[in-house]
Amino acid sequence: MTVIRINAITVPEQGGDELARRFGERAGAVDHAEGFEGFELLRPTDGRGTWLVVTRWRDEEAFQAWVASPAFAHGHRGVGGEGEHSPPVALHSELWSYEVAIEARPEA
Ligand code: HEM
Repeated sequence: MTVIRINAITVPEQGGDELARRFGERAGAVDHAEGFEGFELLRPTDGRGTWLVVTRWRDEEAFQAWVASPAFAHGHRGVGGEGEHSPPVALHSELWSYEVAIEARPEA
């Protein structure tokens, strides 16, 4: 069953564009991760400062394997202030865990 792991990143007032720029230059290492089913970077459009990195995985094991992998480290080479992306862009981030309880699709 697909699991959804969301990184909720809170950025400073003017930090959103920088976050989007960094994701625009992302490593793309996650794209090859076993069990990776996709991700979206969601930009708030109601004035709040929290952006959502919504990732989908085949199962929890696949997510945990990615987080523990060199691909995660490579994909986050700029996070935390080291490397060419300094300074850190996030004020705060937290991991949210979801699964689809009910879904609906438009009639074909
Ligand atoms: C300490 C917490 C974290 C922060 C501050 C953070 C921030 C970022 C930033 C700024 C990037 C853009 C690339 C870069 O600048 O190097 C990135 C990449 C990414 N982050 Fe995070 N992240 C964190 C943890 C997580 C977690 C827990 C997830 C999963 C839910 C996640 C999912 C992703 C994905 C999918 C990418 C693209 C990686 C790639 O292209 O290979 N991040 N993150």
